[in-house]
Amino acid sequence: MERTFIFGVSVSGDNFTDRIEETKHLTQNFANGLNTILISPRRTGKTSLVNKVCDNFTGNPKICIARMDIYDCRNEYDFYNKFATSVLKATSSRMEQILETAKEFLYRVVPQMSISPDPTAGYSFSLKINPKDMSSDEILSLPERIATKKNIRIVICIDEFQQIGDFPDSIQVQKRLRGAWQHQKFTSYCLYGSRKHMMENLFQSRRMPFYQFGDTIHLGNIPTKDWITYIQSRFEYAGKKISETLAGKICTAVDNFPSYVQQLAWNVLNETEAETTDKNIEDAIEKLLIQCSPLFIQQTENLTSYQMNFLRAVCSGITDGFGKQSVSEEFGLGSKSNISRLIKSLTNKELIDRDKNGIIISDPVFRIWFKRLWTTGNKIG
Ligand SMILES: Nc1ncnc2c1ncn2[C@@H]1O[C@H](COP(=O)(O)OP(=O)(O)O)[C@@H](O)[C@H]1O
Ligand SMILES: [Mg+2]
Repeated sequence: MERTFIFGVSVSGDNFTDRIEETKHLTQNFANGLNTILISPRRTGKTSLVNKVCDNFTGNPKICIARMDIYDCRNEYDFYNKFATSVLKATSSRMEQILETAKEFLYRVVPQMSISPDPTAGYSFSLKINPKDMSSDEILSLPERIATKKNIRIVICIDEFQQIGDFPDSIQVQKRLRGAWQHQKFTSYCLYGSRKHMMENLFQSRRMPFYQFGDTIHLGNIPTKDWITYIQSRFEYAGKKISETLAGKICTAVDNFPSYVQQLAWNVLNETEAETTDKNIEDAIEKLLIQCSPLFIQQTENLTSYQMNFLRAVCSGITDGFGKQSVSEEFGLGSKSNISRLIKSLTNKELIDRDKNGIIISDPVFRIWFKRLWTTGNKIG
């Protein structure tokens, strides 16, 4: 039996709920060759959404999709390797074809292919791109040249794109990519990533090469009504019952944050005998705090006392006016310039974020955990 609730990995099929509008929007962008930037905190469902949209194009002879995750790319050469490999794989249906396409379109690169001894595992293909004799133009124009020749359109999806921001000589690299991509007619890009703050830096600052590169979608949380139907049906599937009210409580406890809703629902399901009670939900939230605790400890153990004080202020409901004497004295925040530094460093660590009302704690479970830590002085777990 498949798992009833899934969290931590991308979801598909029956485990994917709602996102109807976003799916439509992204599908249209892909179909019309519009560049898209998808931004949201980690574990809100970017990868799942893009995968779902890509699946809609399976079998479409006119639109070819290349997907890659660049989390492990440390410099531009890693990136070029992955980029070229993914494009070649996506545009060739058979192994021999990959080699042919590589030979036809890449002049300075030696493709290497190895076939796994296990016949079900298929083959692995890699390019040996040598920084000395490669040309970034040749690699970056690869999809456009293939698309033109084959009379197709190509959509390139790049996950964890914020990684680019950490490359050596990052701005130069970004300029090269943007310069090459922006005039392509038959290739479009969908760029998404989990470090929301870094993604915003890359795309929303006028000074940066990728400024206004495409249509920007901020992926929000999934609404309670969609979650309720989903949670209730999954409980039923597992032979248990949960009321609409209590299913709604699971969502509000974690601000409808997709991964947490699934994780908490899973805990609640495990606590439930036949029909969920209030007590089951309370116990499930305690378990969730214990499960998250190691990560939160790691995120906070090296914070300065000023940073901890600032988090306390935000947790107690203050969203702006941190520089007011009463606030800064009550929480021990120091001078105004110190406060700006605190906001910057905690934003970089993705612990705080800004919404329309001011500063908030990014992670709803962290907020509960931190509040508990500070009011009782005891770490959970
Ligand atoms: N459409 C969805 N329906 C149900 N759960 C979802 C959905 N999107 C995301 N989730 C939950 O969020 C988790 C993380 O999803 P993922 O796509 O990996 O997010 P991201 O790429 O933003 O980090 C999933 O394991 C699942 O628990
Ligand atoms: Mg992801």
